[in-house]
Amino acid sequence: MPKALIVYASLTGNTRECAEIIKEALEESGAEVELMESVYADPEDFLQADICLVGTYTYGIDGQLPDEMVDFYEELADVDLFGKVFGTFGSGDTFYEEYCKSVDDFTEQFLKAGAVEGAESVKVDLDPEKEDVQALTDFAKKLFVKWKEISE
Ligand SMILES: Cc1cc2nc3c(=O)[nH]c(=O)nc-3n(C[C@H](O)[C@H](O)[C@H](O)COP(=O)(O)O)c2cc1C
Repeated sequence: MPKALIVYASLTGNTRECAEIIKEALEESGAEVELMESVYADPEDFLQADICLVGTYTYGIDGQLPDEMVDFYEELADVDLFGKVFGTFGSGDTFYEEYCKSVDDFTEQFLKAGAVEGAESVKVDLDPEKEDVQALTDFAKKLFVKWKEISE
């Protein structure tokens, strides 16, 4: 069974809530899942995982990365994640012009690292509502299916 690592940053808990929903859905599929806050994680930790996930909120007036994500972001592109499946998700606020920009920034970094996008990223407006829970669950299941496809 695959190992999944979810690295996340969450100031007020919305992204963490998303991460927990994904964790549960991946576990239901049969994955072994670890949740790690970005300040305790290193991009090389993904080398031990089959499914790599990053969850982040977006900050600043023009869609900046959270401070606690900057080092992780910069180092991620230099790790060789060829053969790994990745997914990105996060919470933002549609009030801002650069809605959930940090989620897209991480998608780019994962692609630079050579990983395969297993499911389109999920962006949640503030805290996850019912339809977001469904989208996050579907996202997790798709990641699992993609892992199965490429590991066969
Ligand atoms: C000062 C400030 C700037 C923000 N800038 C953005 C932004 O540019 N884009 C966006 O989508 N959300 C932005 N947000 C909204 C947060 O990303 C949103 O509240 C999110 O739910 C926080 O997630 P968390 O609970 O995981 O910390 C901003 C929030 C604050 C307080």
